[in-house]
Amino acid sequence: MNVVLLPGDGIGPEVIAEAGKVLAAVVPEVEISEHPLGSEAIARTGEALPASTLTACQGADGVLLGAVGSGDYSWSTSNPEDGMFALRRVLDVYANLRPFRAPGIDLLIVRELVGGLYFGVRGTRPDGTVFDTCEYHPDQVDRVLRRGFELARSRRGRLTSVDKANVLATSRMWRQRALALAAEYPEVELDHLLVDTAAMRLVQAPESFDVIVTENTFGDILSDIAAALAGGLGVAASASLADSGPGLFEPVHGTAPDIAGRGVANPTAAIRSVAMLLEHGLGRPAEAARLDAALDRVAATVQTPDQGGTATTAEFGDAIVAALATDPSEELADA
Ligand code: NAD
Ligand code: IPM
Ligand code: MN
Repeated sequence: MNVVLLPGDGIGPEVIAEAGKVLAAVVPEVEISEHPLGSEAIARTGEALPASTLTACQGADGVLLGAVGSGDYSWSTSNPEDGMFALRRVLDVYANLRPFRAPGIDLLIVRELVGGLYFGVRGTRPDGTVFDTCEYHPDQVDRVLRRGFELARSRRGRLTSVDKANVLATSRMWRQRALALAAEYPEVELDHLLVDTAAMRLVQAPESFDVIVTENTFGDILSDIAAALAGGLGVAASASLADSGPGLFEPVHGTAPDIAGRGVANPTAAIRSVAMLLEHGLGRPAEAARLDAALDRVAATVQTPDQGGTATTAEFGDAIVAALATDPSEELADA
């Protein structure tokens, strides 16, 4: 088994250091290598996604990414975020799974990750008008909707498809495809929400959701709302999956320039992403459950500042490694 770490920028390297430590503790036999992506890669090679990084990712069983971006959007050509988009696109990790849990809340956002506004044609007209376009092919929509139906079927059987069908042509096609596919998943109860209503319902009644499936931009925004309801960005993890080849596992949060370099970032999101890597990337669901349980236990007593505590990033990571070593469920699992 081999896993590629892409620490990235800002707090990326700080949280990935802890995630790497935990991964090595859970599966000591895994081969781990680190590669540059983002600002560091631009500084070293002139490219946000160097060819050597891409080759390493393509040959891996899973890729664990910190975050990229400097928070400076004055660029005109190469920028750190572009490296991540290229990686998502080349690995074709179209299904971005973002689970959110808190008392009363257990929802999963399935965000389409390689289409829509993020990858549409952009440009400037002679008169100075600037445009971004949103495009979806029905096949791109079907494959992510199917993931949504399948995941809903394995959970509580409720799928909410979120769109803006009262305005957008892509959304009307999206809704039609959802309706057409629903016939193949009779055990799943499908409903549709417009994205503005979905945002309100998420804040007012998050417990009413099971699985949400939506396009790229809507999923980006709704997942930060969901994160705010379920412990904040410091704890929100994600798995981006293709039909074949390695998945990309990363926190929902970014490089947090406001706290970078101080050793206080919460590594929970990155470590939960390791659990998702164990489950979806390495085929080790038992170890994933063990790590999730360790995270739950440690969170009760060791907290970084975003959770109201005083623990450092490294202290939290060390506490997870220690908790894994004294795992109360280990004897049960071994029996
Ligand atoms: P952000 O997610 O980096 O930060 C938002 C807020 O949440 C900040 O106050 C930050 O301190 C806090 N926060 C985030 N992660 C935290 C953690 N682990 N522990 C404690 N607090 C945490 O969003 P932003 O400031 O809007 O974006 C900064 C840069 O990150 C931008 O360049 C953006 O493009 C990039 N970004 C990258 C990714 C990614 O690589 N996957 C994701 C989101 C944003
Ligand atoms: C995320 C991030 C990225 C996105 C940014 C950094 C481009 O916000 O992964 O949610 O919008 O996809
Ligand atoms: Mn986002």
